[in-house]
Amino acid sequence: MSDLDVRPVAESEFRDANSLFLRTLHIPPASDDQWERSSARYEPGRVLGAFVDGELAGTAMAQSSSLAVPGGAVLPAGAVTNVGVRADRTRRGALTALKRAQFADARERGEPLTMLHASEAVIYGRFGYGVATRARKVRLDRARAVPHPDVPAGGAVRLVDAATAEKVLPEVYRRIGLTRPGMMSRPDGWWRHRLSALQQNAVVVVHSDDHGVDDGFALYEAKANDYRFDDGMITIQVGDVQAADTTALAGLWRFLLELDMAHRIEAVDRPVNEPLEWWLTDRRQCRVTGVGDDLWLRLVDVPAALGARSFGAADPVVIAVRDPFLPENSGSYRIGPEAVRCADDPQLAVGVDVLASLYLGDVSVSELVAAGRVEVRDPAAVAAADRLFATAEPPWCGTAF
Ligand SMILES: CC(C)(COP(=O)(O)OP(=O)(O)OC[C@H]1O[C@@H](n2cnc3c(N)ncnc32)[C@H](O)[C@@H]1OP(=O)(O)O)[C@@H](O)C(=O)NCCC(=O)NCCS
Repeated sequence: MSDLDVRPVAESEFRDANSLFLRTLHIPPASDDQWERSSARYEPGRVLGAFVDGELAGTAMAQSSSLAVPGGAVLPAGAVTNVGVRADRTRRGALTALKRAQFADARERGEPLTMLHASEAVIYGRFGYGVATRARKVRLDRARAVPHPDVPAGGAVRLVDAATAEKVLPEVYRRIGLTRPGMMSRPDGWWRHRLSALQQNAVVVVHSDDHGVDDGFALYEAKANDYRFDDGMITIQVGDVQAADTTALAGLWRFLLELDMAHRIEAVDRPVNEPLEWWLTDRRQCRVTGVGDDLWLRLVDVPAALGARSFGAADPVVIAVRDPFLPENSGSYRIGPEAVRCADDPQLAVGVDVLASLYLGDVSVSELVAAGRVEVRDPAAVAAADRLFATAEPPWCGTAF
């Protein structure tokens, strides 16, 4: 019987943890340069190691962040990443032990939420995570994607170098604010890691409004096919577009659609309701090539998380929450206009993973009733619960971590 122990790793062990994680994704250890960039995201005390018989066998870390929830509150939330267990030590409970330790740590830090992007969709439901936002990937043929005359003209755009981007982008992102449920703050270490990529091939465009205030940016890279043996296409791969309003967003998209020597534009992680189709004279030129799960959310402290979001206008509904992994969350909650624990008979019952999917408003209660994921004890409660959890627009994260 081997001995499994989980503890925060020392700073001197960060690189070992990073190498172990990369190997679990079949990536070789980082070079000194890569590690220099990557290490900015490692926060002392938040990098956990699972040790089997004293040897590092698995790791998981979190970055201190925060998440916007419906109603405008922004809650402290750990952004979990770099999760991996050595291939010769899997399926012995190392991840389970790491998750337990991470949840306990989140509670101690006063973080009611924890979030991640999942490498595989089958891993995290058992720990109480649910898909809470989705994002889409779009492809546009630049020559045929002609902006509609009604698209806002947008303001001025300018290309900036890496040093300027390092200063301006975090400021612009802060100025934009976490205006939409699902948006998260970007820790300094996240920015250092992300912007270090600019020394390579990425291009940064900044948009400013009529008063000269920067209010949006886009990052992209160009990928070219061989012009003799392939189709010679140049694809602009857009990785991050952030804008304070639709004028800035339209201005950035106009810039991308008017780039010379660009045949295709591909953008990932875009909001499912971005009005691109409506901005084109031929809406079919915006090809949605995929809609995928984006942010996975875990309500570590269910009463605190429910108490922090606002709910729509409808009669209150009593929902029973089952949380086998953190049983202290299990119980009945009366939802709307506030959410409180109660002793009333539940009208609906959900697992805590399903509650996480409902929490930001990405999916309706009735959709999950149809999917068999919500147990209905009082059918009249479904329509009311739909109205309570509904949000004005779908949530969107927009930050890869
Ligand atoms: C995903 C990973 C971390 C799981 O670690 P682990 O130590 O094997 O997980 P555990 O032993 O604690 O497993 C807990 C349960 O989850 C299941 N599980 C874990 N990973 C799974 C996977 N990839 N697919 C299906 N089931 C999985 C286990 O079978 C186990 O089920 P059980 O409780 O019914 O027995 C590990 O497989 C890994 O490193 N994968 C490659 C890297 C990766 O994908 N990391 C995640 C990045 S988001």
